[in-house]
Amino acid sequence: MLRFGTIGSGWITDEYIHGAIDSGLWELSAVYSRTRERGEEYARKHGVSRVFTDFEEMADSPELDAVYIASPNLLHYDHCKAFLQRGKHVICEKPLCAQEEKVKELYRLAEQQGVIFLEAIMFLHLPQRKILEEALGKIGKICLAKIDFCQRSSKLDAYEKGELPNIFNPRLETGSLMDLGVYCVYPALALFGMPQSFQSDLVLLESGADGCGVVTLKYPEKLVTLTYSKLGQAGANSDFQGTEGTVAVDSISRIAGVSLWRKDGSTQQLYGGDEKYQLMGWEAKDFYRYITQPEESREEYLRCKELSIQVAQLMEAIRKQCGLRFESDSAHH
Ligand SMILES: NC(=O)c1ccc[n+]([C@@H]2O[C@H](COP(=O)([O-])OP(=O)(O)OC[C@H]3O[C@@H](n4cnc5c(N)ncnc54)[C@H](OP(=O)(O)O)[C@@H]3O)[C@@H](O)[C@H]2O)c1
Repeated sequence: MLRFGTIGSGWITDEYIHGAIDSGLWELSAVYSRTRERGEEYARKHGVSRVFTDFEEMADSPELDAVYIASPNLLHYDHCKAFLQRGKHVICEKPLCAQEEKVKELYRLAEQQGVIFLEAIMFLHLPQRKILEEALGKIGKICLAKIDFCQRSSKLDAYEKGELPNIFNPRLETGSLMDLGVYCVYPALALFGMPQSFQSDLVLLESGADGCGVVTLKYPEKLVTLTYSKLGQAGANSDFQGTEGTVAVDSISRIAGVSLWRKDGSTQQLYGGDEKYQLMGWEAKDFYRYITQPEESREEYLRCKELSIQVAQLMEAIRKQCGLRFESDSAHH
C-alpha cells in the first residue's frame, strides 16, 4: 500500500479518499487544512490523526508517498510545486493551472524528480470509456459533436444575494470554463485531438467570473461544440453524430450512460448505471499503477501528460479569445 495525504477539505476530497481507500491500494496518512480546528475535524471524519496546517511541512514529511490536491485553482501551482520539489507523487484536481507554461513547468519538475504527476480527470480512467470509443467507431464519419456540461451551481443563490462564493470569484481562477468547461475540453481533445481553430464566447458575471460559455472547435471535416454553464441545468446529453448513427452520452465527465442510435431507427443502450465511489477509485488505481509499474505504464502516463498540456494550452487560448483574464496572466507574461 502507498500512503497519501490530502489538501482541501471539501466533498470532492471525501470522494477521492473513499475511492482510493476502496481500491485497497492506498492508505490515508495525513490531512492538511489552513486551520487546526477544521483539520482535526476532517481528520476525525476520515479516521486519521496526523494534521498539518503548513503544507510545506506536510510535503517534507516522510509519513507520506503522495498527495491528492483539491484546493482552489489559484493555489494548485504552489501546492503541486511544494510536493514535487520534495519528491512526492502528486495527483491534483482540474484544471492544473491557468497558464500552459506553469503546467509544463510542473511536469518538467516531476520528470526531474522521477515522480508521477497526474491531473485528476475521471473521464480518462473509467473502464466504460472503451465502450464509448467502440461505439464511436460504429457510426461512420463524425461531422458534428456536442459536448455539454451545464449544471446550475448550488452557490448561485448565495451569489445572487450578494455573497461571493469561491466558485464565482475570479481571483481564485474559478468560474464556468475553469470548473465545468474543462470537462468538455478533455473529451474533445482525447477523442479528436487539437482543433485547427476555434471560436468561443461567454457570459461574464458582475464578479468578473464567466457564468457560461460556448466554444466551437473546428477540425478538417467536423465541428465540435462545447457548452458549459454554472447558471442553468442542461436538458440534453452530449452527442456525437455520424453518417451511420449517433452516440449519446449521459454526464460526459463520468460517462454515466452510452447509447447508440442507428440510421435504421434502432437504438441500443450500451452502458448505464455506476457506483459512485468507484468513480474516483479508477484514477486512484491508475495513479498507483503509474507509480509502482512505471515502465509498463509509461506510454499511458505520457498520454495523460500530453493531453493535460494540450488542455491547458487550449483553455488558456479560449480565455484569451473571449477576454477572460486572471491576475496571474499579467504576472506570468
Ligand atoms: N473532479 C471533480 O469532479 C471535481 C469536483 C469538484 C471540485 N473539483 C476541483 O477541486 C478543487 C477544489 O474545489 P472545491 O469546490 O472543493 O473548492 P473550495 O471549496 O473553494 O476549496 C477547497 C478547499 O480549499 C480550502 N479553501 C477554501 N477557500 C480558500 C481560500 N480562499 N484560500 C485558500 N484555501 C481555501 C478549504 O480547505 P481548508 O479550509 O481545509 O483549508 C476548502 O475545503 C478545484 O480545483 C475544483 O476544480 C473537482
